[in-house]
Amino acid sequence: MKNLWENRGSIFSRTKPALASPSLCGFVDRAEEGTLAGWAADLDNPEHPVVVEIREGDKLIASAAADVYRRDLELAGLGQGRHAFQCSIPASYSGLPNFTVTAQIQGTDFLLPYQGKTHFVAEAPPLFSYIAADIVNNCNLRCPFCVVDYTDVTKTEVMSDETFTRLLGLIRSVPTAGFWLSCLHEPTLHPRLNQFLEMVPRDCRQKIWFTTNLAKPISEETFIAWATSGIHHINVSLDTMDDELFAVLRKFGRYKIFHQNLDRLAKVFRQYSDAPKLRYITVAFRSNFEEIPKIVEHSHTHWLSTENEIRYTYNVAHIVDEFRREHYLRKDDWPVLTERLSRLPYKYVIAYPPEDGYEETIMPSANYFEIQKAVQMVPRPSFDRPLELRARPDGTLVIVGRESQFAVNVNTLEDPVRFFETL
Ligand SMILES: C[S@@+](CC[C@H](N)C(=O)[O-])C[C@H]1O[C@@H](n2cnc3c(N)ncnc32)[C@H](O)[C@@H]1O
Ligand code: SF4
Repeated sequence: MKNLWENRGSIFSRTKPALASPSLCGFVDRAEEGTLAGWAADLDNPEHPVVVEIREGDKLIASAAADVYRRDLELAGLGQGRHAFQCSIPASYSGLPNFTVTAQIQGTDFLLPYQGKTHFVAEAPPLFSYIAADIVNNCNLRCPFCVVDYTDVTKTEVMSDETFTRLLGLIRSVPTAGFWLSCLHEPTLHPRLNQFLEMVPRDCRQKIWFTTNLAKPISEETFIAWATSGIHHINVSLDTMDDELFAVLRKFGRYKIFHQNLDRLAKVFRQYSDAPKLRYITVAFRSNFEEIPKIVEHSHTHWLSTENEIRYTYNVAHIVDEFRREHYLRKDDWPVLTERLSRLPYKYVIAYPPEDGYEETIMPSANYFEIQKAVQMVPRPSFDRPLELRARPDGTLVIVGRESQFAVNVNTLEDPVRFFETL
């Protein structure tokens, strides 16, 4: 326990209210982006978790049990270390100014201090949970499982500098990793992707990430630009390391080029200690099933993976039945995959298919091309916060899931943040 008290002891003794039991202790460590996190315990009863209540004045706005394991707490002698908590400020506060709160152990007078204060300022949740900025509307490949149906896409639209600049007016209203550059489509098709990264204010770069197929030849200069960009992370799609299967799954892509890109990317990123983290996404099929543990291993040992995501195929309407029959995993395959991956010493997450069978549930294709352009519909409907926003290359903004009800072009808005605050 000693170190914990030595580190924080002065704060502790200065802020502990007189009425509190001497056995109560804890701190708030983080009060950002609508989240409060820290630890709290009753030392007389360390195996019994306390509850932390967040109040604005007298009003209780959130609470959480302090029962989450944290290794440093265990090492400090706090029972088995199960005393951490994390609390979300309700979404109704999102986009509102920051406000003063207290964090109190339930049923006691003990207030947890944050940066030395028992009454401290908490950041309200951001106005948007994310902005999916589609800086292009097209892809260089035509993967047979793609969530997007490109049948009617004949012309590549790219976002202009002006539109991107207007869109950046909203970036301070998203959380860390909340501003996505073309999570649909292929961001490297945008000829000014690197310039766009530079246009993002330095202190907002950690809000940015993108996913790429790395299937067209990419220069070392571009990889240096990415390595020094300060963005949060880059996802690389890696379904197979087999030439022939790559040509099937990544239609119009060539494994050789992809592999060369990855080697070059890893070589450059190794030279920059603060390069963005690399994550790898593998869609699990029968055709790549045996390879998946090797993919996880190889991407960690050769291509700087910090995490691999193995996911099921979102069963969108336009995927052809033949592909479903040949490539989709069966229900029994998932426990086998789980067991095989559990033997590896690497970080990975598995996105399992829905329990009730995913082949039976067909989702609409992720196509947003039909969205009306730049029409602000009247009267304006109201939306739950935080908002989820999608931006088309021309600047049309829609609320995800409510695309048919509302659209407005960011280029027509004098003050985009104010506009969405008043929605
Ligand atoms: C839509 S893509 C866009 C980025 C880029 N074109 C790429 O493929 O890397 C984003 C991620 O979704 C994955 N994906 C595409 N279609 C999918 C589907 N039907 N189910 C699950 N993941 C899918 C891709 O493999 C990729 O990792
Ligand atoms: S590379 Fe990505 S966006 Fe392009 S077709 Fe494949 S999954 Fe879809």
